Amino acid sequence: MSHELERLRKIVEECRKCPLWKNRTKAVFGEGPPNADIMLIGLGPGYNEDKEGRPFVGAAGKFLNKLLDSVGLKREDVYITNVVKCYLPENKATDEEIKACTPYLDKQIELIDPEYIIGLGNTAAEYLSRKYGFQFTSMEKMHGSVIKVSTISKEVKIILMYHPAAGLRNPPLRKIIEDDWGKLSHIIYDVRKEKM
Ligand code: URA
Ligand code: SF4
Repeated sequence: MSHELERLRKIVEECRKCPLWKNRTKAVFGEGPPNADIMLIGLGPGYNEDKEGRPFVGAAGKFLNKLLDSVGLKREDVYITNVVKCYLPENKATDEEIKACTPYLDKQIELIDPEYIIGLGNTAAEYLSRKYGFQFTSMEKMHGSVIKVSTISKEVKIILMYHPAAGLRNPPLRKIIEDDWGKLSHIIYDVRKEKM
């Protein structure tokens, strides 16, 4: 499905469906194998992502790379994208911006068809709860949990995690995030085993 993803990327790069297009240097579509088993969804591009046109390349991205590494995953193994594709100067998206942008994410999920979706932070968690019809109470209660949801074609496992940027601002939270990722090891192992 990689040609369809590339077609969608071009559409996103020229999109003007919400006012955020005016702030962007480059839209951040996402990157990774088009048939990835694991998909990561953040909030939206920050300063560095906007300049490079790639997701999670700033400080939060460096921490994310470490978390991936801690469970034996490389960035190239997973597909990484965001709820919103254009620069969010305040790290916040409005309901209207989310509504305008998430049809792109819906399409990415459909084309990539991952086994696991890791939602990073509240905005991704709320998007996933709406899409898959589970209740998102709070990150305090649900971080690290695996939520199994049935779609027409298969069962998808959703994992909710605190946003890595939150861990950089708050050292005790950083430890919780590292522990949550540590518990992912067996899941990642299962994915690999299924492929062998
Ligand atoms: N924060 C996000 O949510 N996404 C990025 O791509 C970078 C930082
Ligand atoms: Fe389009 Fe999404 Fe950018 Fe808004 S944030 S202009 S909907 S790509």
